[in-house]
Amino acid sequence: MAFPPSFLDDLVERNPIEDVVSQYVSMTRRGGRLFGLCPFHGEKTASFSVTPDNGLFYCFGCHKGGGVINFVMEIENLSYPDAVRFLAKRAGMEVPEDEQYHSRYRQQERLWALSAEAARFFHAQLYQPAGAQALAYARGRGLSQKILTNFGMGYAPDRWTALLEAMEAKGYTQQELLDAGLALRHAEKGTVYDRFRNRLMFPIIDVRGHVIGFGGRVMDNSTPKYLNSPDTLIFNKRKNLFAMNLAKRSKAGRIILVEGYMDAIALHQYGFDSAVASLGTALTQDQVALLARYTDQVVLIYDGDEAGQNATRRALPMLERSGLQIRVLAIQGAKDPDEYLQKFGADRFKLLLDGAENQMEYQIAALARKYDITQDSQKVEFLQAAADLLAEVGSGVEREVYGGRIAQAAGVSYDTLKLEIDKAARRAGRRAKKKQERIDLAPAERLRPKDRSIRYDNVRSAVAEEGLLGQVLREPALLAQVDLSPEEFSCPLLGRCFAALRDRYRQGLQVNLGALEGFTPEEAAHLAGVAQRQSGPVSEAALADYTAIIRGEHQAAEVQRPEDLLALRDAMRKRKGYH
Ligand code: UTP
Ligand code: MN
Repeated sequence: MAFPPSFLDDLVERNPIEDVVSQYVSMTRRGGRLFGLCPFHGEKTASFSVTPDNGLFYCFGCHKGGGVINFVMEIENLSYPDAVRFLAKRAGMEVPEDEQYHSRYRQQERLWALSAEAARFFHAQLYQPAGAQALAYARGRGLSQKILTNFGMGYAPDRWTALLEAMEAKGYTQQELLDAGLALRHAEKGTVYDRFRNRLMFPIIDVRGHVIGFGGRVMDNSTPKYLNSPDTLIFNKRKNLFAMNLAKRSKAGRIILVEGYMDAIALHQYGFDSAVASLGTALTQDQVALLARYTDQVVLIYDGDEAGQNATRRALPMLERSGLQIRVLAIQGAKDPDEYLQKFGADRFKLLLDGAENQMEYQIAALARKYDITQDSQKVEFLQAAADLLAEVGSGVEREVYGGRIAQAAGVSYDTLKLEIDKAARRAGRRAKKKQERIDLAPAERLRPKDRSIRYDNVRSAVAEEGLLGQVLREPALLAQVDLSPEEFSCPLLGRCFAALRDRYRQGLQVNLGALEGFTPEEAAHLAGVAQRQSGPVSEAALADYTAIIRGEHQAAEVQRPEDLLALRDAMRKRKGYH
């Protein structure tokens, strides 16, 4: 029995070849390709390649090649239908073995066809007398003829049944228009009418080229500004990105992620052909995975306002976890990328874009070369210098991004570094304004109860505490040798974690974080982060160093009474040459 083509498309889409192959072959990336040792013939140099872009594998040695289904047939020694079933199972998909599933795929194909037909209808309306105002609006917003065509933009007439009639004339049913999210049914009268009326239309096209939904913008200040297709059998706004169908072909080597349809379009018009926009929701895991299929570098451009910054903050951790290289670009002097381009032009935007690449990264790299961060003392100096650098960076979000990266490189938590950045910012502030002097030891700041348990008050000790936990998590037997007490830890959370792990060890239980109880989700996440960052070798010597630092810092803190703090701070400043 043949499988429906759209099912096979889905199957291939949901089983990215690089993921499937990497379960059998370990590969490294070179340019747009992954290379590894061919699983089909014996070899010592990697001539087996996978190209995620086109979903193919190929061996330059034995010349086997093909798509993901072929790979599975070959490596699992399966027939074609069984390889399909194998991959379906892997992706958690049901195989359309019977008529019922066939009909679902047929329905999907109908909706794709209908949506494409609707896009053609809307586009044609732009050039009808009734669409003159919409065309003028689009032109007024700076959109060229070419971009209107490339994006297939259109106009939904100011009538109740314009699309409905046009599509019915082409043989589509009212039910199909409802299913495609293009029409609505009146609750009382039961009549069916167009969802999109008197709006400038933006078709949303998936990476396979199917029109799957629409955004429609009013042309005045009425609300809602944008109306979007609801989720349907073919459209899920959480799984798609606007303009990804175009951006995936870009040679730019990075994808520019913006917030608005108009921002993405303006970028394309000004020559930045790798711009995509999220679809009016916070960035999702599925969208991140989609990005990762086509690039390993994302430039995140957020609107300068509070909402934009918050959106960036939420998106960042997800993007970073996915292994993508992330750069953040703050738009200043305009409210969004669209306005920026209109005001300042492409050249200046390019500078901004390259600036996002170079400035911070360059300086950080330069700094990293100056210190040997495998040594504890130099690591602390490096972190302090990096903190000074970051404290000068304008936006909080940029601090978070680059700070997070530095912290990871140095094998410490971002909180550790943040403490230093805050200090550095305060130092900078003091230099400018002597008045700041009193604030930095203000009790309120030190005792903020909310995240107190995850605060690091002593960076040097905390680095060692994290290191020690990392060691014992990887080699629980080392717990027998650690003679610290949890109270000696400067960070209460890390101390509690140490105590819990030691108890489990003594009771002969598994020593891992997954089994620990009594930690809040935030604390557990923080501890998981600590564990993840530790990757150096496990050794008794390292353990002894960490122990000595923790004990030493604890003893130094013990002798320190609150009233000594100011004196101590002054003494430290003198020692370090701060003014
Ligand atoms: P913006 O208001 O920043 O959009 O909303 P924009 O693209 O810059 O619009 P213009 O320049 O005013 O024409 C960002 C995105 O949020 C979604 C849309 O996807 C929009 O592009 N949005 C916004 C909605 O879905 N509905 C709305 O009412 C507003
Ligand atoms: Mn805008």
